Amino acid sequence: MENKCIVLGVSGGIAVYKALDVVSRLKKHNIDVRVIMTKSATEFVTPLSFQSLSQNQVIVDMFAEPKAFEIQHISLAKRADLMLIVPATANIIGKVANGIADDMLSTTIMATKAPVVFATAMNTNMYENRIVQDNMCKLRKYGYKFIEPASGRLACGDLGKGKLQDTEIIVEYALSVLNENKDLQGKNVIVTAGPTIAPIDPVRFITNRSTGKMGYEIAKEARDRGANVTLISGPTNLKAPFGIEVINVSTNEEMYNALLNRFEEADIVVKSAAVADYKPSEYSEKKIKKSSQGLELNLIRDRDILKTIGEQKKNQIIIGFAAESHDLIENAQSKLERKNLDYIVANNILSKDTGFGTDNNKVTIIGKEGFKLSLEKMSKREVAKNIFDLIKGR
Ligand SMILES: Cc1cc2nc3c(=O)[nH]c(=O)nc-3n(C[C@H](O)[C@H](O)[C@H](O)COP(=O)(O)O)c2cc1C
Repeated sequence: MENKCIVLGVSGGIAVYKALDVVSRLKKHNIDVRVIMTKSATEFVTPLSFQSLSQNQVIVDMFAEPKAFEIQHISLAKRADLMLIVPATANIIGKVANGIADDMLSTTIMATKAPVVFATAMNTNMYENRIVQDNMCKLRKYGYKFIEPASGRLACGDLGKGKLQDTEIIVEYALSVLNENKDLQGKNVIVTAGPTIAPIDPVRFITNRSTGKMGYEIAKEARDRGANVTLISGPTNLKAPFGIEVINVSTNEEMYNALLNRFEEADIVVKSAAVADYKPSEYSEKKIKKSSQGLELNLIRDRDILKTIGEQKKNQIIIGFAAESHDLIENAQSKLERKNLDYIVANNILSKDTGFGTDNNKVTIIGKEGFKLSLEKMSKREVAKNIFDLIKGR
């Protein structure tokens, strides 16, 4: 996201301090962050904190002596690739909806042609107020975007909707709007991610070391490129990404049913889940009591989901994953052919800083026409990007 500029508008809600985290997260993506605060916002946090984190001068007063000879609300409005308002008060929403431009923030919003995103945060009664709702409805019609607040315990002690959305989600949303490449617009993409479990009894199960990170990054990349994404996820500790339909499953059978139900409408299926190949031949309804003896488990082969969709495939592009500990390319190549895939992404799971649970991966992508692309170690998001670039390019 080099060379991108986000003008971050900060209005006066109790969640102003969270906007600091948004600045620091955006900076990690090398984004030029320009902060405009309302006067009320400075009652909560000083401009100095925003200035230090953004490494740019913070603007509050429209009539302050300019530091350079430029009309700042116009120059910032032009420079912005995106205006992100965090937190967005009922007041700033009301002002913009009614054409009021009486301070630096509202004037810049009025003057920009960049997309404007409001991350709303306010007391539940304020949020549910018909006037606030009407204002948001009106702004949506004009193309302004909103990041819905979350529900929870609010600063005022009330329980309900109005809490500023997670800063991680706000940043993800902003990056998604900034992404200009929409080459998957309108495509239905299904991604499977994470492990599945094979239950032994009501307490115990067999599973594997997949954390779902790779699949979640693939799903987010597809979403940001305009696809309608369904993420079928085994049990993970990851947050559900915004704008993606997440279907939570636990067993091989549940993943099979979820995928097969949607397979016909899919354009692209990326099967990055580590589905259990074996399950106990019998499930014990009662907890198996421990004894001084050992315990033998008889495992039987479970469904081969990838093979099934390979057999049912019509026009879908199917991408499988091969996590291998040896003979990486040979094993991956054989899986690609046996399962009628279009591409297979092979990675060596014995490597310490890539693969399961890490943020990076080092993969080789093999295509059915025999073509092979070995990538350097890179973030899982970069791997995801490469996979879709490749599909689109071919
Ligand atoms: C302690 C405190 C917390 C507030 N929190 C919020 C809030 O979360 N959301 C909101 O819309 N207004 C909140 N307000 C009210 C706004 O500060 C007030 O409407 C102000 O005029 C907003 O100005 P601005 O939109 O120019 O920043 C709060 C006020 C106080 C005193």
